Amino acid sequence: MSLTERIAAIEEALERATAGTAEDVERFRVAMLGRNGAVTELFEAFRTVSAEEKRALGLRMNLLKQSAQGRVDALRDAVQASGSETSGPLIDLSAPARIDPFGGHHPIPIVMDRIVGIFSRIGFNVSHGPEVEDDHHNFGALNFPPDHPARDMQDTFFVDGGDRALRTHTSSVQVRVMENSKPPIRTISPGRVYRNEAISARAHCMFHQVEGLYVDKEVSFADLKGTLDHFTKSLFGPEVTIRMRPSYFPFTEPSAEVDMSCSICGGQGCNICKHSGWVEIMGCGMVDPAVLAICGIDPELYSGFAFGMGVERIAQLLYRVPDLRLYWENDVRFLDQFTGAAVQR
Ligand code: PHE
Repeated sequence: MSLTERIAAIEEALERATAGTAEDVERFRVAMLGRNGAVTELFEAFRTVSAEEKRALGLRMNLLKQSAQGRVDALRDAVQASGSETSGPLIDLSAPARIDPFGGHHPIPIVMDRIVGIFSRIGFNVSHGPEVEDDHHNFGALNFPPDHPARDMQDTFFVDGGDRALRTHTSSVQVRVMENSKPPIRTISPGRVYRNEAISARAHCMFHQVEGLYVDKEVSFADLKGTLDHFTKSLFGPEVTIRMRPSYFPFTEPSAEVDMSCSICGGQGCNICKHSGWVEIMGCGMVDPAVLAICGIDPELYSGFAFGMGVERIAQLLYRVPDLRLYWENDVRFLDQFTGAAVQR
């Protein structure tokens, strides 16, 4: 084979060369540029040819050597990029970015934040208190007399041999705020509360509340109704309306339950509203003057309203959650549905 033919054969071999692994690349490198490789041997042969041939083929020979080295490098890069490299760290800068899945907020904090946001924008601050509460803050200051049957309304988990209890509502936080500050008071108290109830689709022994309190001169029932109307429209949409039914709480007088026109059927009647067109969303009332007095606020000068809602219930209506137990099971198929829900403030 003449020198020119050998060059052509090597050029063709370079062009056809493929490699699947780093070992393939190394084998190819040795076959071309190793001590007995085709290119090396070609240069051996080149030494013996005439000066005329040397001049004619020198440049092509040098180019051939360069392209053999270039081919080895290219094959090595390709093997590394495809991840078949068996040793050494592997970084493929051209691979598409790997998107790690984001976690999401649980529906309860999502809804709690939205409720807090609505009241923050109309001047309410946020107050917190202990979950293990004494009798005074959970019951006494709220006008529950020691043996009054009203205490039976809220089955309680007692701790410390009955001296303290897991709070049954966040009204206890509002007692603390009234005791420690002067009107005007506008505060909302979000948090966990506990009641000794059998767990079912409609009840749980632990849930979340947001309670609100407004105390100032000349606060009226109309202020209460206007505030709650604004709240429900902000959360559920401008088309919902509210109505109030007389009710009883030891710490408010008068007291009311608030119903909202069913946001699911638009008031036409469905299973959620039990075909009444209305769903109950919270309790409220004018703070009993006796409560103001116990908390050190002069009831002759000041009046106030209060309200309290269950977050699970509100979330159930917003997201049509059929069973309260879903909030606690942490089934990702349930939770995944809320990953896109933005927390609005
Ligand atoms: N604390 C009441 C409850 O837990 C709710 C409520 C708050 C009612 C304020 C009236 C006024 O059920």
